[in-house]
Amino acid sequence: MSQLNRRVTKAVFPVAGMGTRFLPATKSVPKEIMTLVDRPLIQYAIDEARAAGITEFIFVTSRGKNALEDYFDHAPQLEASLLESGKTDLLETLKSTNMESGAIAYIRQHKAMGLGHAVWCARRLIGDEPFAVILPDDVISAEKPCLKQMVEAYQETGGSMVAAMEVPREQTSSYGILDINGESGPLVSVRGMVEKPEVQDAPSNLAVIGRYILTPDVLETLNRQQSGAGGEIQLTDAIACEMTANRKVHALKFEGQRFDCGSKAGFLQATVSFALARAELQDEFAAYLREISPLIRAAE
Ligand code: G1P
Repeated sequence: MSQLNRRVTKAVFPVAGMGTRFLPATKSVPKEIMTLVDRPLIQYAIDEARAAGITEFIFVTSRGKNALEDYFDHAPQLEASLLESGKTDLLETLKSTNMESGAIAYIRQHKAMGLGHAVWCARRLIGDEPFAVILPDDVISAEKPCLKQMVEAYQETGGSMVAAMEVPREQTSSYGILDINGESGPLVSVRGMVEKPEVQDAPSNLAVIGRYILTPDVLETLNRQQSGAGGEIQLTDAIACEMTANRKVHALKFEGQRFDCGSKAGFLQATVSFALARAELQDEFAAYLREISPLIRAAE
């Protein structure tokens, strides 16, 4: 691929996970359909991708995820009934989630073999161009959407890029952790990456967050990738291989707040934070939080 092709128009959304941390809810509802206030997690990911200029959306799904396809389908009857009852605001909200025909492709990951494998499953749809990967569990609230920040930085750097943030040392075993060469403002030059290292083995406390811009070379590496941490084919390992092949990898310390919506505590934090940010809920919800603050002290 020519390094001059720096247009990123495709994004992969790995959504095949079983969401066991949210059982029993995820017995019948895909985790990505669970809602923060009134929008499913996946909608936040799609909105972020659109804001960054993505026009082709590739979902790597699995059995039991049909609700995702239905969610992104047009709903003409519902639209007609909202129109008839004059609920134009709701109609506009609904329409803003409509996707252009053919913009989304669904491909199945037949076996849970890891994030690297999920991305590899999309290889034919990605082809020979740079692409983004968005993990919808990582919800990022930011003035300028995180992926847009990355696309802008990537126009300057080329190569591959990951989103990064500092985490407490004792949490390194929950993340891909970066080994860095040096930093220039928010841009970090990376020389290595380790998936979920124990504290004593972690090269830093700078963690990969679920946003990536990858060159198609990574797909070739994934063709040969062996299983790594947790017995899974790790995306982190494939990106680390890029560096051993002397290809550039940068990390961007993005501006914004990240919520780990793959965990119950993170999901609840995001719910509170997003509710407080909504004009129509703010007053009532803030009043409620003030009212229950004695309960919080009592629980301590
Ligand atoms: C994945 C990646 C990991 C990254 C994390 C960010 O892990 O494998 O490198 O730090 O997402 O959320 P997961 O949380 O899916 O186990």
